[in-house]
Amino acid sequence: MDLNKSIFENMKFRKYFLYIVIFTIIIVIWKLKATDNTGDNLQDLKDILHSHKHFLHITKQQLLLFEQLQKHINYEPIPVIYAITPTYYRLVQRAELTRISQTLRLIPNIHWIVIEDSEEKTNLVSKLLEESELTVTHLNAKTPPFEKLKDKEPSWKKHRGVEQRNAALSWLRENLTVGNQKGIVYFMDDDNSYHLNLFSEIRKVKRVGTWPVGLVGGLNVEAPILDPKTGKVKSYRSGWKPNRPFAIDMAGFAINLDLILTKKEATFSYKMERGWQESEFLSFFTTKEELEPLADNCTKVYVWHTRTEKPVVRGLVKGFEV
Ligand SMILES: *[C@@H]1O[C@H](CO)[C@@H](O)[C@H](O)[C@H]1NC(C)=O
Ligand SMILES: *[C@@H]1O[C@H](CO)[C@@H](O)[C@H](O)[C@H]1NC(C)=O
Repeated sequence: MDLNKSIFENMKFRKYFLYIVIFTIIIVIWKLKATDNTGDNLQDLKDILHSHKHFLHITKQQLLLFEQLQKHINYEPIPVIYAITPTYYRLVQRAELTRISQTLRLIPNIHWIVIEDSEEKTNLVSKLLEESELTVTHLNAKTPPFEKLKDKEPSWKKHRGVEQRNAALSWLRENLTVGNQKGIVYFMDDDNSYHLNLFSEIRKVKRVGTWPVGLVGGLNVEAPILDPKTGKVKSYRSGWKPNRPFAIDMAGFAINLDLILTKKEATFSYKMERGWQESEFLSFFTTKEELEPLADNCTKVYVWHTRTEKPVVRGLVKGFEV
């Protein structure tokens, strides 16, 4: 009798206990759902990682990966950067493209479009792109002979990259659909130097963004000048014709992909006056007042118009791919 009673009480207790556990679980789940604070927790974690990155030996790339993961968890797709790089054969080509590709490997969500100025795609570039392990599109478009630079002519004498940039624009316009993906288009020449921060700035672009470019136009830096009242671009600090509607180097702006896809008439052309390519191209998309000043209100330099010196080579050693 006693035994039965105790079993009975025990069962009653267990039942009671089970109710409490279930009730607690429900409360916890409900709480989690109501506050939906996964994002906040991840943000806190990111802030902690960031502030202790030196102590923990966390690299910039690891933080970027974390950021990417965080955005995936929050279902906020990060825009793809379509980096357009015209290139042509010269002794330093492989060195230049290696530098660029290894910079790009540190950047999430990059689609690299490389366009060779050649009749056919070369093995040198094909191999390099394959080894880069990046998402790439390899194109070629030969500059017509009349525009080819003669050996001794200074580089500003003729337009550069017209054919190649247009080939990339056609590829985008033919192969991508408006509204299908978030993307930003950036013209990334193969001889410049790029800070990783530049790519975070590029991803902030809504329509057309701009920022300073170092070592260009005979100045240490070319930079848009902002109106302190409105925070918008007022004029430009530029070594050459600062009164152009957009006195901005090719490396100093990026454009929303959907804008590129919609304004199909916007291409580069040999008819554009020398040095006016950027300015004329940008006028298809925006006005000076609409430009989005990035890189801390155009106060930071994250890209440099570096120039690789043409090496003096007196002999070619066989059997090496340089
Ligand atoms: C679109 O993409 C396909 C596959 O990469 C390619 O064959 C085609 O030429 C592209 N279109 C243009 C205009 O480049
Ligand atoms: C940029 O300037 C605006 C005012 O024009 C200011 O509100 C904003 O905080 C500035 N941003 C940075 C990153 O300095």
